[in-house]
Amino acid sequence: MLGGELKERLEKKYEVVGTTIETLDICDKEAVLKKAKEIKPYFIINCAAFTNVDACEVKEEIALSVNGTAVANISEAAKQENAILIHISTDYVFAGDMPVDKIYTEAMEPNPVSAYGRTKLVGEENAKKAEKYYILRTAWLYGLRGKNFVKTMLRLSKEHDEISVVDDQHGSPTSTTTLCKIIEQIMEKEPEYGIYHSTNEGFTTWCKFTKKIFEIANIKTKVKAITSEEYKQMYPQSSDRPKNSQLSKEKLKNIGIIPSKWEDALKEYLKEELK
Ligand SMILES: NC(=O)c1ccc[n+]([C@@H]2O[C@H](COP(=O)([O-])OP(=O)(O)OC[C@H]3O[C@@H](n4cnc5c(N)ncnc54)[C@H](OP(=O)(O)O)[C@@H]3O)[C@@H](O)[C@H]2O)c1
Repeated sequence: MLGGELKERLEKKYEVVGTTIETLDICDKEAVLKKAKEIKPYFIINCAAFTNVDACEVKEEIALSVNGTAVANISEAAKQENAILIHISTDYVFAGDMPVDKIYTEAMEPNPVSAYGRTKLVGEENAKKAEKYYILRTAWLYGLRGKNFVKTMLRLSKEHDEISVVDDQHGSPTSTTTLCKIIEQIMEKEPEYGIYHSTNEGFTTWCKFTKKIFEIANIKTKVKAITSEEYKQMYPQSSDRPKNSQLSKEKLKNIGIIPSKWEDALKEYLKEELK
């Protein structure tokens, strides 16, 4: 979802070599090192991941190899070619158990509650081995390519008169277009290496996010607010998720990168999605 859009945008300004799982399995260390040697990139951007949060619970070993261990292959390749690594991470590295009026800064200690979060945290540690690295933690990502929450809600609205959506998990819906713009600015500015929280501005819950989607798309399906506990009773196999994964964007703003409000990014996305 992110990689495809990013490649298309970057091709307007840079020479880009895009890879997929068919052309380069990031778990294959030799292949990763060989590819980097061949290309000699200035930047390596890792958008690849095992992103199905619930599936990570039952396939944690595979998730660990893709989200965690494979990132060490990419950092080694970056170091070998003196390239800058841009690695995409997640708000789910945090436990999300702080009161809702508190938000996470990059300096705060991660403590994931899910297999996805745990494996992505290993990925962050491995990304740091590149030395020249940016770790961009994003959240609640949606875009025109691939499956995402917005598309799921649009589909469910056609199948049901009322849907139940969790209203006690707080975060920032983020469009792939916003994240691409952040990545492009990081590439242009080359700020100090480190972690940057990279989401749209503002916070909401999944339930209020859904209501906003329906409002913009003029959909009449009712949205019922439920708790995470009620959701878990309905879907016992589902992963635990942070209740509050609100990320501070102060560090990003301090380097002159100002993401748009999540509502504005959603409107822009729906204009295309509903065409
Ligand atoms: N989606 C979200 O809500 C969200 C939220 C926070 C952070 N993020 C992070 O944002 C980044 C982009 O996410 P996204 O939603 O664009 O993900 P996505 O659509 O699931 O794309 C990830 C891609 O990685 C590929 N991949 C999986 N294993 C691989 C391997 N071993 N080698 C090479 N490629 C492999 C997948 O291929 P297959 O499809 O063939 O498996 C898929 O094309 C990820 O780092 C993700 O963790 C996403």
